[in-house]
Amino acid sequence: MNILVVNGVNLNMTGRREKGVYGTQTLREINDEIASFADKLGITVKFFQSNLEGEICTAIQSAEGKYDGIVLNAGAFTHYSYAIRDAIASVSVPVVEVHMSNVHAREEFRRNSVLTPVCKGEVLGFGKNSYILALESFLL
Ligand code: DQA
Repeated sequence: MNILVVNGVNLNMTGRREKGVYGTQTLREINDEIASFADKLGITVKFFQSNLEGEICTAIQSAEGKYDGIVLNAGAFTHYSYAIRDAIASVSVPVVEVHMSNVHAREEFRRNSVLTPVCKGEVLGFGKNSYILALESFLL
C-alpha cells in the first residue's frame, strides 16, 4: 500500500510555531516517526509539503493511479480552499483529513472545514498521532 502524506500551509513551521498547540517536534521529525510506523504496518509513505495552494492541488491530482490514499493536513487552507476541495473531488484516491489540534476547541473559524464533505474521513486532536491514526484507517 502506498500512501501520500500531504502537509499544507505553515506546517513546515511545526516545532517552531505555537509550540503549545503543535508541539516541539519539527515536521521532519514527525515524518520520520510516521515513516517508521508505516514501515511496521507494511505501508510505503511519501511526504509532500507546500505553502502554495496550487501545489497542493497538483499533488492531489498527481496521486491518481499512483497512491492508494492521501493523508492530508491542509493547515489553514482547510477552512476556505474550494480549490483543494475540488482537487480532492476530482480524484478517486481516498483522502483522510488530519489536524494535529482539536480544531473544534479553538477559534470559531477553525470549526468549519470545506474539505471534510469530500474526504473519506477525518482525524483530529491527537497531535502527531493524528497522522498515524489516519494511516491506520487505510488498513481497515
Ligand atoms: C491545523 C489546524 C488549522 O486550523 C491550522 O490553520 C493549522 C494546523 C492542525 O493541524 O491542527 O495550520 O491543520
